[in-house]
Amino acid sequence: MTILVTGGAGFIGSNFVYMLLEERPDSKTICVDELTYAANIHTLNDAMSYDNFVFYKEDIRNREGINEIFGKEHPDVVVNFAAESHVDRSIENPAIFLETNIIGTAVLMDACRKYGIERFHQVSTDEVYGDLPLDRPDLFFREDTPIHTSSPYSTSKASADLLAVAYHRTYGLPVTISRCSNNYGPFQFPEKLIPLMINNAINDKPLPVYGEGMNVRDWLYVKDHCYGILAVLEKGKAGEVYNLGGHNEKANIEVVRIILSELGKPETLITYVTDRKGHDQRYAIDPSKAMTELGWAPTTMFRDGIKLTIQWYKDHMDWMQECTSGDYLKYYEKMYGNRQ
Ligand code: NAD
Ligand code: TYD
Repeated sequence: MTILVTGGAGFIGSNFVYMLLEERPDSKTICVDELTYAANIHTLNDAMSYDNFVFYKEDIRNREGINEIFGKEHPDVVVNFAAESHVDRSIENPAIFLETNIIGTAVLMDACRKYGIERFHQVSTDEVYGDLPLDRPDLFFREDTPIHTSSPYSTSKASADLLAVAYHRTYGLPVTISRCSNNYGPFQFPEKLIPLMINNAINDKPLPVYGEGMNVRDWLYVKDHCYGILAVLEKGKAGEVYNLGGHNEKANIEVVRIILSELGKPETLITYVTDRKGHDQRYAIDPSKAMTELGWAPTTMFRDGIKLTIQWYKDHMDWMQECTSGDYLKYYEKMYGNRQ
């Protein structure tokens, strides 16, 4: 079995690559990644030593380059993680989100049609369902919840989902889609809430909480997400969507307080800053379909996962420094410099 993973030098893709190398040693894992700002090639240092791992630096928008890789490797399964993934960046510059997340997905699916595959899996997000009100804790996203997006990011992901469903119906491409809640864990780029707050707290820098910090996210440890995708690949049905999440809702301010407490840092570091435009209130996944039909369930509780995550960043400050030098400083100044 040859499994082609796009975006494998990013956060979730790299965790997925390591899971495959460990759990499916008889498979060949091909990683295709353009290495944008969000990737750190050192993330794949350990993977590079495996004989059954191959890395290609390629842009999923580049039809010729992608076809060449498919022609050479003939993957049986394609898992598409490659994306522009940060909501705040999509508000600043939507165009690249449309190009990578929509056109890039189409290029990959065209290659799948041309060369033939057993499965194309689109890694999607619960953000395609829009948000839920804070005062209705009884509501959850189900697979049949209407798509109703808020940000250019979520809209580009929803567009890719629709395209994937269309390729299944029109061309019979064996497509599956998973929609997961917010992930946390090793190798997450420090523009996202948890690693950004960990990094700032370690360095005694202010922790910029948007608005009043009451927005709710449903957190899933990244390894649980990876096992969920594996379950979809091996037990899921083509043409189906599966929600992945672990019923772990927390207000942002709660998460920030937990990080400060774990690191023994004072709450005076918390700084409330101007809210995100169009900020989604609450995400909450109903994962019962994946649990019933695939036998999947998360195994890492947040109280354990957040400790593992903080420890990982403390042990990998060199990795963090590689991510936060150069362009990151400009990004940080642009996004947070005048945000009081
Ligand atoms: P990430 O930003 O950490 O990584 C994205 C990876 O894609 C990077 O390695 C980058 O170099 C690569 N990439 C970007 N554009 C590319 C292109 N044109 N060609 C080839 N490679 C390209 O993202 P992530 O957090 O690991 O998310 C992975 C996927 O999971 C995304 O599709 C995202 O929408 C989805 N998702 C993420 C979360 C989350 O909490 N992070 C939750 C649900 C779903
Ligand atoms: P983020 O990690 O960007 O994920 P998403 O927007 O895709 O859910 O943000 C998680 C939550 O944290 C979201 O409600 C925005 C908030 N947030 C802050 O309050 N401050 C920050 O500096 C960042 C990056 C996010």
